[in-house]
Amino acid sequence: MQEKIIILDFGSQTTQLIGRRVRELSTYCEIVPYNKFPADDPSVIGVILSGSPFSVYDEKAFRITLDGLRGKYPILGICYGAQLMAHLNGGAVEPADSREYGRAILTTVAANALTKDIEPGAQVWMSHGDTITSLPDGFNIIASTDKVPVAAYQAEGEKLWGVQFHPEVFHSTCGMQLLRNFVVDICGSRQDWSAASFIESTVAQLKEQLGDDKVVLGLSGGVDSSVAAVLLNKAIGKNLTCIFVDHGMLRKNEFADVLRDYECLGLNVIGVDASQKFFTELAGVTEPEKKRKIIGKGFIDVFDEEAHKIKDVRWLGQGTIYPDCIESLSITGTTIKSHHNVGGLPEKMNLKLCEPLRLLFKDEVRAVGRELGMPEHLITRHPFPGPGLAVRILGDITPEKVRILQDADQIFIQGLRDWGLYDKVWQAGVVLLPVQSVGVMGDERTYERAVALRAVTSTDAMTADWAHLPYDFLADVSNKIINKVRGVNRVCYDISSKPPATIEWE
Ligand code: XMP
Repeated sequence: MQEKIIILDFGSQTTQLIGRRVRELSTYCEIVPYNKFPADDPSVIGVILSGSPFSVYDEKAFRITLDGLRGKYPILGICYGAQLMAHLNGGAVEPADSREYGRAILTTVAANALTKDIEPGAQVWMSHGDTITSLPDGFNIIASTDKVPVAAYQAEGEKLWGVQFHPEVFHSTCGMQLLRNFVVDICGSRQDWSAASFIESTVAQLKEQLGDDKVVLGLSGGVDSSVAAVLLNKAIGKNLTCIFVDHGMLRKNEFADVLRDYECLGLNVIGVDASQKFFTELAGVTEPEKKRKIIGKGFIDVFDEEAHKIKDVRWLGQGTIYPDCIESLSITGTTIKSHHNVGGLPEKMNLKLCEPLRLLFKDEVRAVGRELGMPEHLITRHPFPGPGLAVRILGDITPEKVRILQDADQIFIQGLRDWGLYDKVWQAGVVLLPVQSVGVMGDERTYERAVALRAVTSTDAMTADWAHLPYDFLADVSNKIINKVRGVNRVCYDISSKPPATIEWE
């Protein structure tokens, strides 16, 4: 049985990060909404309560009682999770002053199973609006900072702990040790979750689930769909048919290059060049969400038509990964951009869904790809939006604009590779701006397009910083683009972070 830690999600931005850290300890975990603890699951070995944007006193705060959990499993409350447990048991939680944000140093640390090998002087990261001012009877402080007396506590004689800092974030230098103490020592994890064990059990499950059924899967060139395809291919071989659609908005030569990669991997793949259809449908469209809808719908139509040529297909394979399916506790409910371009596919095709990667984080998908022997350039490929260059051409789309953007983009991406910078950025690309500017080339005055280079560092695309690329590199790329790409006479570098900007311009 695959033992697991359950993370109860109270809506914090760092809940997924807690999950990743637990997995880094080779321990399987699942993130579930705060009120959906899987009762009667014998594989649960411990429970973590996440942080939350709410205060325990907020009317809308997510609340649970610990009935059924306390005494049955080891429990660790993080930030709001710690405050909630203190509050529920008669402790006092009050608004904190603003000093409880950011870096802090542990000044005292008691000898305790949770703080094993953590010394005073260790750095932790605080981020809370409220603070615990008095603990319930029978709860003891086990670590403090000079501003936060209750940095960590334990309920005496019980396997129940709370920490007001965030051990999951990078800046908590003792965070991994603390999580290890909890997951491995206290919960007793066997630490047997690995890419190899995942492949072995998933291939066996897929064989059983699919039998002789046929599966179709849409490849995008991205790492998730590629790894899903190779895994399915390992399980069911030729009963898997992959479809790779060229909507005309891919990078330069990408369709041919990636198709060749897929064939080398032994995949049964059909490449469909549908670019003309998309150019026609997109002509004159300037609104970003409308572009996304046209491409999403067009993709479904092309895919559906191809899939119907295969007899007796029962399943649709998809490279959905864990962050795509964690049931989110939407606090604000706003959609910034609609990213799920092919959401309607299974309904339209009346197929059952097969998502072999739905339990994995991105870095685990990459580890599985490597274990499956896939080439490194497929595994480390930057994320690329489904609608492709369509959302990087501001304004209407023409084949000429796509050509200009593809040429500029290729110079930028090849430059990143040549300078050894490709793997240092999360994602990069060029944006074609809807402006022309005056320039001079030789003795001629020019009036041509401006492009913006965009490169960001990130771990999950939720937040991102602009990549601090060397000036010499930017100068080299700018020169090459202006000299080689007909139609461009100005290159800018985008130095906005997310938030408040987004990674893509549209
Ligand atoms: P933003 O621009 O929202 O992008 O900061 C976050 C990540 O999502 C990608 N992105 C998309 N991916 N369809 C996709 O499949 C889309 O419509 C889309 N829009 C943005 C973006 O490239 C980045 O990785």
